[in-house]
Amino acid sequence: MSEPYVRIFDTTLRDGEQSPGATMTSAEKLEVARGLARLGVDVIEAGFPAASPDDLEAVRRIAIEVGNSADGGRVPIICGLARATKSDIDKAWQAVQPAARPRIHTFLATSEIHMQYKLRMTRQQVLERVAEMVAYARSLCEDVEFSPEDAGRSDPEFLYEVLAVAIRAGATTLNIPDTVGYTTPDEFGALIAGIIQNTPGIENCIVSVHCHNDLGLATANTLAGLRAGARQAEVTINGIGERAGNTALEEVVMALHTRPQFYGLHTGIDTTQISRISKLVSNYTGLPVQPNKAIVGANAFAHEAGIHQDGMLKHSLTYEIMRPETVGATQSKLVLGKHSGRHALRTRLAALGYALDESEMDQVFERFKHLADRKKTITDADLEALVSDELYQPREFFALDGLQVACGTMGMPTATVRLRGPDGQLHVSAAVGTGPVDAAYKAIDAIVKAPNTLQEFVVHAVTEGIDALGEVTVRIEGIDALLQISPQREAEVPRTFGGYGADTDIVVASVKAYLAALNKLLVASGQYGSVEQSAVQPV
Ligand code: KIV
Ligand code: ZN
Repeated sequence: MSEPYVRIFDTTLRDGEQSPGATMTSAEKLEVARGLARLGVDVIEAGFPAASPDDLEAVRRIAIEVGNSADGGRVPIICGLARATKSDIDKAWQAVQPAARPRIHTFLATSEIHMQYKLRMTRQQVLERVAEMVAYARSLCEDVEFSPEDAGRSDPEFLYEVLAVAIRAGATTLNIPDTVGYTTPDEFGALIAGIIQNTPGIENCIVSVHCHNDLGLATANTLAGLRAGARQAEVTINGIGERAGNTALEEVVMALHTRPQFYGLHTGIDTTQISRISKLVSNYTGLPVQPNKAIVGANAFAHEAGIHQDGMLKHSLTYEIMRPETVGATQSKLVLGKHSGRHALRTRLAALGYALDESEMDQVFERFKHLADRKKTITDADLEALVSDELYQPREFFALDGLQVACGTMGMPTATVRLRGPDGQLHVSAAVGTGPVDAAYKAIDAIVKAPNTLQEFVVHAVTEGIDALGEVTVRIEGIDALLQISPQREAEVPRTFGGYGADTDIVVASVKAYLAALNKLLVASGQYGSVEQSAVQPV
């Protein structure tokens, strides 16, 4: 009987970040990586270093800062993805090497369709390339993962051969991806069982599963793979990822946690951190979580029907299979307020896992005091929103300096905005719109001149009560001409960008979120230099 421990390999920062609009700044990625370490994931796939110098740098920073810290109780493995080429593998190694526990993950497609049309390689050539590149990765790094891309549609007999070659070349983890989300749970479970039974040398390796959600089967397929003997699950927070997304971490972890008798498997995840990391990822990517999403949706623990409420009042087990506090869905209400000092704030932030330097602390403390003047009780959720809004915004080419709106039933909604631009100068513009947010966005557009379409605009309150902080996430799509997208750069340049803002005034929060997304768009357009060279510091 194999061991019951399942390694959780989180790929939010790599496969997850490939979702349209999910592009995160390096500061945001670092914060997500810290959250993943606190959550207790075993492996953080921090990115695809060959994609761009910025990606390489972001992975390297995570390797240095998160891959050497035991804040989450133990040091996570930091992994970088590489195609099966020397140059990709070199870049992945350069990025992950500073981590205490580095991993290189290399992949090559094995389905007929991919080999014939994408790679234009024969089976023999694929076998040779796998042998050569896995051995090369292993010459650099002790811990090497290999994935036969599109394994779900590959000939199983050929897979056994490829995997055996990878094992002989030094692979320590063999990951089986259902790249296009095509398989069904029975098929995928049988594929994993077949691989375990027929691949020479596999008993000394970890078998991993990596599923996509095109048919809504990613979690079911992953669990079927684990039942068949896989001991690593590749997942993302909120299930974000290419197309319909990847397997959701929270779903797999809570299925194993809630049904121990059935699965007999466990993970090292601190489930009470799940809600928090879900929110962080949603804020930074601008990808909202659907209200009925399992485990982390706003309604996941809400009981509306009278008959359910009646049952719940009699005994919570009537309709509840998990307690909301098990996934951290009920935040503690630590009351910090007007009279709380810097020390109390620092202590609470440290308990939440934020280690701020003095200047960051100054910024956050000022915002905290300002908020405490307007809101009596400041909860952990408020503090997290405030830190995200204050510290983890993209570099600001254009920063909000002032906003005034007039709206209501008696006139035309009008907004006047004042922005500090990359030239250090203040720019003022006024516009009318269908509402105050529309007017403010039009006034901003007149200054920033970065044509885009607003794809998503979501507002919600961080806590209950009329004085609650409002959070806004937006997603915008830039036009090809602005982003200089040519047919050659088509696949490389992101088009959609998310932004997040929080304030007790939701029009201010909306403006901050829009500016955050616009600033990311401007970074991608290359108009004002690279991300690290902003002329304007946050105001
Ligand atoms: O879905 C996939 O095939 C991947 C591989 C790179 C593992 O993401
Ligand atoms: Zn994938």
